[in-house]
Amino acid sequence: MTIKNYDIVIIGGGPGGYTAAIRVALKGAGVAVVEADKLGGVCLNSGCIPSKTLIASALLYDKLKNASVMGLITPQPPGYDWLAMQQRKDKIVSSMVGGIGQLFKSHGVAHFKGRGRLMARNQVSIVDDRGEGLELQADNIIIATGSRSRNLAGLAIDGRQIVTTDHLLVSDRLPESILIVGAGVIGCEWAFMLSMLDVKVTLVEMLERVLPMEDADVSRLIERELKKRKIMLYTGAGVTGVEVGPDQVTAHISPDRQVQVEQVLVAVGRAFNTEGLGLSEVGVQLNDNGSIATGQDMRTDVDNVFAVGDVRGEIMLAYTAVHDGEVAVDNALGGNRRKDYAGVPSVIFTHPEVASVGLSQARASENHDIAVGRFPLRALGKAHAENEITGEVKIIADRDTDKILGVHIVGAHATEIIHTAALVLRQGMTARELGAAIFGHPVISESLMEAAHDVHGMSVHVARKPDRRRS
Ligand code: NAI
Repeated sequence: MTIKNYDIVIIGGGPGGYTAAIRVALKGAGVAVVEADKLGGVCLNSGCIPSKTLIASALLYDKLKNASVMGLITPQPPGYDWLAMQQRKDKIVSSMVGGIGQLFKSHGVAHFKGRGRLMARNQVSIVDDRGEGLELQADNIIIATGSRSRNLAGLAIDGRQIVTTDHLLVSDRLPESILIVGAGVIGCEWAFMLSMLDVKVTLVEMLERVLPMEDADVSRLIERELKKRKIMLYTGAGVTGVEVGPDQVTAHISPDRQVQVEQVLVAVGRAFNTEGLGLSEVGVQLNDNGSIATGQDMRTDVDNVFAVGDVRGEIMLAYTAVHDGEVAVDNALGGNRRKDYAGVPSVIFTHPEVASVGLSQARASENHDIAVGRFPLRALGKAHAENEITGEVKIIADRDTDKILGVHIVGAHATEIIHTAALVLRQGMTARELGAAIFGHPVISESLMEAAHDVHGMSVHVARKPDRRRS
């Protein structure tokens, strides 16, 4: 058995793991990444990038259906080729996966393909595809093994009629009809995308509203858009049973509905990849929900073993995993850093897009006397120019200090313009300070500045309401 020594060994080559590895190398320490599958993890191979690539195609197709509004003459109805869309996505993914390999080479990051397992607090064993073993000695170990789609009791995934997005991302045809179980981030993104691609979509959500983690006004606006697209929506409902026939699935939806669809997509959250890592043997503890317990410094109960990203279960996002990785690396190399999630934006690629940062109105109201500013996109010249007038910006500020507590955007480019708001929150800025900033024109971002003015009833592009508070 070959034995190699590193300062840090990272198990998992997704966004949390691979960026951490490059950071170790940049700091001049020796690092190895153990990855059983392709570099880039779920985000690059079966999550963020492939889904956004397909969504971009679907959006263009959707726009072409209404091209005449923009003065264009295009064949109607327009068409699409799902296989060609998939091939475009595969090409983008494989070139980006190759890019990580190149980065590893240029930074001197060692990459081992296989499954890593902690044999002791300083020792990782790797078994490769051929069952051959290798042993790595490490001063520190970072676990970045991520998550996978969660299964739902009574809805066994068969990969054909009952699927996860993993299956749809490699499918060679789309169904004519689909039932999506779960109206969280994945459920809503796929509901819009599939509906734009002419799939008949039914969406079922257990809680009372779609995107239940977002502000209630956001859910209301998105529900309206889902209905405009003729997506059948059942909230406060669950799938109580399914009968799988040769070509159709009959699903029973509580309390007393029934739908017949070609496929069922399960999107009800994620399960943590903690199995087979030898965690309990070396003393790494799990939280009650099965995620790895860490402190704010990303250390597990074993002080040279760190965990980052989805497997920690705190926020399951690629970009917080990257932050976790930075913190873990700095601490493993002798630093004393805590995670800092102030101003983490949420970005959701529905159509219209959703993005938010900070507290929802309901949460903010629990501890603050709040003032709310709003600005509808239809009041912006640029929104009309782009034919994207749906949505609004909502800003929640503390009435006494004027500090901005939350920003919620539904509309075109929401996932881009939210980052201005994220910085505003991180810097603890007030609504007056945001309103005083000079924005370019015409841009959709002006809606942020206008909503900030509206916190004080001072937006010049909002019709005056007699009862508005003045200051
Ligand atoms: P999620 O937690 O966002 O949504 C799951 C939804 O399913 C919830 O609304 C939940 O109430 C509902 N649900 C649970 N059990 C149910 C049942 N039996 N019947 C009906 N509804 C049920 O999880 P999701 O959408 O699977 O996404 C997984 C993770 O990936 C999330 O943490 C998400 O933030 C992340 N993600 C982020 C994206 C982005 O940032 N744009 C894109 C896709 C995923």
